[in-house]
Amino acid sequence: MSLQNVTLHVPPKDKLSGRLDVLMMVSGFLLALFVGMHMVFVGSVIISPKLMNALAWFFEELYLVQIGGPVILLVMVGHFILGARKMPFRQKEYVAFRAHSKMMHHTDTTLWLVQVATAIIILVMASIHIYTMLDTLPITAAKSAARIQHGNWMPFYIVLLAAAAIHIVIGLYRIGVKFAVVTRENRPKARKFMVYLLVAAAVISFLTHIRLSLLTI
Ligand code: HEM
Repeated sequence: MSLQNVTLHVPPKDKLSGRLDVLMMVSGFLLALFVGMHMVFVGSVIISPKLMNALAWFFEELYLVQIGGPVILLVMVGHFILGARKMPFRQKEYVAFRAHSKMMHHTDTTLWLVQVATAIIILVMASIHIYTMLDTLPITAAKSAARIQHGNWMPFYIVLLAAAAIHIVIGLYRIGVKFAVVTRENRPKARKFMVYLLVAAAVISFLTHIRLSLLTI
């Protein structure tokens, strides 16, 4: 297909679409904040399983898990629906999107395609994960360790973590560009910072898995 014939229909932005964009950004930011806190919470097992148990007990006593779990799931589905307005689901849209992306050598449009793919993975896998967690309360380090040691959940978590970390880092980067925190000048620095964030997530997750794998249950 000739690139000159490729057109992307971009309708003018109306007020509603602008508001939905803000809602998508706010919900995405809150979800990113949740995943960051969740990593610290689960990662507390690295210091001590007792600490993880105490934190889980505290959150469950306050019903933060029982109520917060379904709320997170709803926010996640809502965030996905808001993002789906812009996803190139139809074959024609996808072909046009790819062609534009290649023509312009535009990393940002390629990053958007990565966002679409990781969003679908997160939606499916995090839904399964949250359902499993809520179905097997209370949360304890021993139960988490049993899932890793005997339940074959490690590959599942590695894929979920990779998708979530990549999606969050790209999302934060795009928010930074939108608010001109990331500018043409500091773009390479911002990208480096995002890579550091990814590495930090991978290290915490790696140590969490090692600790859960070695825990005597
Ligand atoms: C609100 C509901 C959630 C609860 C109660 C929860 C709880 C937990 C617990 C207890 C573990 C330890 C492993 C286990 O017990 O099997 C875990 C691991 C994990 N969770 Fe969640 N989680 C929730 C939501 C999420 C979401 C929304 C994501 C990502 C989008 C996520 C990603 C992960 C990952 C990747 C791991 C593996 C450990 C790691 O690599 O850091 N969780 N979660």
